[in-house]
Amino acid sequence: MRPPTPRSPRRRVPHGRLATAATAVVLALAMAAPASSDTAERSRSYEVTGPRTAAQRTAVAATGASVDAVRPGSVVITADAAQAERVRRMGYAVRVLPGPPDRSDGRKATPFDFPPADAKYHNYKEAMAEVDANVAAHPSLMSKQVIGTSYEGRDIVAVKITNAAKKPPGTTAAKPEVLFTAHQHAREHLTVEMALYLLKEFGSQYGKDARVTKMVDERVIWVVPDVNPDGGEYDIATGSYRSWRKNRQPNAGSSARGTDPNRNWDHKWGCCGGSSGSPGSQTYRGTAPESAPEVKVVADFVRSRIVGGKQQIKAAIDFHTYSELVLWPFGWTSSDTAPGMTKDDRDAFATVGTSMAASNRYTPEQSSDLYITDGSIDDWLWGNQKIFAYTFEMYPGPSGGGGGFYPPDEVIDRETARNRDAVLQLLENADCMYRSIGKEAQYCR
Ligand code: ARG
Ligand code: ZN
Repeated sequence: MRPPTPRSPRRRVPHGRLATAATAVVLALAMAAPASSDTAERSRSYEVTGPRTAAQRTAVAATGASVDAVRPGSVVITADAAQAERVRRMGYAVRVLPGPPDRSDGRKATPFDFPPADAKYHNYKEAMAEVDANVAAHPSLMSKQVIGTSYEGRDIVAVKITNAAKKPPGTTAAKPEVLFTAHQHAREHLTVEMALYLLKEFGSQYGKDARVTKMVDERVIWVVPDVNPDGGEYDIATGSYRSWRKNRQPNAGSSARGTDPNRNWDHKWGCCGGSSGSPGSQTYRGTAPESAPEVKVVADFVRSRIVGGKQQIKAAIDFHTYSELVLWPFGWTSSDTAPGMTKDDRDAFATVGTSMAASNRYTPEQSSDLYITDGSIDDWLWGNQKIFAYTFEMYPGPSGGGGGFYPPDEVIDRETARNRDAVLQLLENADCMYRSIGKEAQYCR
């Protein structure tokens, strides 16, 4: 007698005419899935051909998949088998993409470290050591604060960069502050390198480069180099990349871990079909706004910069990968203007955003031109704190040529320096973003 084929009880195959195909897909996926996973459903990367409007892409995202790249007639998603099947049932062609690259060089993995071929990336410990080294090298310009801890207890740090002895000429007012955050999403390791580049650049070029010097004198620059250290470490823990996106918080009643930090911010949280209420989703919004400890830590830090009733932080960039985009709010609505986003606000966002994009050769657009998101950091920073907040999606472009979430470490120097001018532009505009639309007198006096 033949033994019964082992079948996971969780993998229920739908009835009907698609059942045979679905069974084949599910079995193929089960066989191809990585050997170890502590979540109920294994996620993979897929190319979905067909969606070409933001509404269609939002419908794809509503399955609980993350939309990782947007191309002219297709998207790349991270999804489990059930989510991929739902996308297929929308009538789209769904094709499995290769998993993350193997960069082990045949060598044995070091736990919690990048594979040898990507050794120039900084794991958490190395990134923190780099922060400390920069602060030690420039103690009169930089200081480090631990602003809180992650779910697993890792320090989340903010580096303050300014020359306290200097002020903008002719003013006594407080200096405008600008915030740079990185690594909300675990697999987007290039963003940590971006933050470390900023520390190095502002430290080493002070007194040498006129633009850098002026900004260190006339602004307070805050860099939070690692918003999601637990997720980042989990992604590299085995020596082969896991394509992990979320944090590592457990979810009650589910074996699936993690909240998507960039759906957990407290502005129109969960309002609009731009996040998921299912713990297994790549875009799980959490149980409440700021339920992710890492989001609460950064939000508390931002609120701590309200001095005398005024938010000192005027502008921000949150770094992600990939797609080479400069994005501005709102994500929750496809409208250009909305309550809390006047035509002048929108025009200032778009003017500075387009100018930054001209320098780094990214594509500028409102974030909801991609698909609807709710609970994103830029929506909260603008909608709640009136901070001109952008999202940069770094290298590679949406075709993914160049490694998607895992570009080789050879590109780090080029792709971080590529944003130097854009970062300086935002700093230079931060004292009055409305100057960019010729309305300084109306808004900034
Ligand atoms: N890819 C990023 C994410 O899914 C950014 C999406 C754009 N939306 C935004 N509000 N920034 O979180
Ligand atoms: Zn991201």
